[in-house]
Amino acid sequence: MGAATVATISRRGINSEKENEITNIEKKFGCKIVNIKGDVTNLKSLENAMHEIQERSGSASIRGIFHCAGVLHGKLLSNIEENDIDIVLKPKVIGSMNLHHVTNGLDLDYFVVSSSINSLIGIPGQSSYGAANCFLDDFIDWRRKRGLAGQSILWGPLNVGMASRPEFIDNFAKRGFNLLSVAEVRCCLQAALMQNSTNIVYADINWETMSKNYSVPMMERHRNIMSVLFDQLVSCHETFDEDSSFYEFDITSLRDTSKQEQYSALTRFVLHAASKVTGEVDPSTSIDVKLTDLGLDSMSILTFINVVQDYTRYRIPAAFMSNIDRTFRDIIQLLAEKLFEQINSVS
Ligand SMILES: NC(=O)c1ccc[n+]([C@@H]2O[C@H](COP(=O)([O-])OP(=O)(O)OC[C@H]3O[C@@H](n4cnc5c(N)ncnc54)[C@H](OP(=O)(O)O)[C@@H]3O)[C@@H](O)[C@H]2O)c1
Repeated sequence: MGAATVATISRRGINSEKENEITNIEKKFGCKIVNIKGDVTNLKSLENAMHEIQERSGSASIRGIFHCAGVLHGKLLSNIEENDIDIVLKPKVIGSMNLHHVTNGLDLDYFVVSSSINSLIGIPGQSSYGAANCFLDDFIDWRRKRGLAGQSILWGPLNVGMASRPEFIDNFAKRGFNLLSVAEVRCCLQAALMQNSTNIVYADINWETMSKNYSVPMMERHRNIMSVLFDQLVSCHETFDEDSSFYEFDITSLRDTSKQEQYSALTRFVLHAASKVTGEVDPSTSIDVKLTDLGLDSMSILTFINVVQDYTRYRIPAAFMSNIDRTFRDIIQLLAEKLFEQINSVS
């Protein structure tokens, strides 16, 4: 967030492809990116890396930590061994404690850890990963109670990094997870940092698939012990189902209608969808009001994007929605361009 120098620490350093990407970012944003080899699970190695960062950033002080180190190493409990648990736990558990230790006494604005929705919703083969992320969430709570900076972001699967391997994508889809795009991640991260909640979840969930998975009898116990959060989210999805006709939108039925009628139908759909998703928008709201003025947070905006996609098959880009000056009129105009062009040209 406006940092002049950003330093990364990883055991292997960066490859030439990333080097090019980094040079482009430096040019575009006028910042300096320093890449240092280090292991967060080894205190001495981390201390050396921090020392090097301090030397290379001159008189600037370190103001933020983003702890993203993690290793994905799935194994079912039936054949898990101690080393399998260590591989996954160490970067998150020892890594966060070492970072806490080496930043002791620094005046930090951020101490953000990358946790996972897996800390709330179990995934077969990922019990160590779930435990590691649970630790992060509680650790951040512990820091905050001591008046220290701290935020844990529980990401759903992302279309970047460890979860974006093709063999995982189908599996996530079956469990009700869509991957968050890079633009969505950027938009959520920005919102999280502004919001500064202790723990915050960002995930793109297909509620229909997920609620089916968790309704089968063998998952009943699992569902019972899940957090209040999950039950609240599922019941929110069930409410959509009961009331879906309220904001139904059938584009083909508008083929022979006037442009004005098409625009009115689209306006009704957008306002009703927003009001149902967020519970905050009155369907009679002016379409010139800014989304941010209505207090829509990034989670409700993502759900809104999903609902619009379900009914229109068009996905509004997250980057489009991240503009703080966006109004409903902008959304309606974008949808009108994307949806009506096709039916109007056919007729
Ligand atoms: N991608 C997702 O869908 C997703 C979803 C939820 C949460 N997350 C979390 O987000 C974080 C970043 O994930 P990603 O998807 O970007 O994964 P990634 O591409 O595999 O990146 C993980 C990074 O951690 C570094 N690392 C691992 N162990 C380390 C250690 N001991 N010391 C220093 N660096 C270490 C790795 O570099 P070296 O191997 O060179 O050290 C690598 O650069 C992880 O904590 C992950 O659990 C990701």
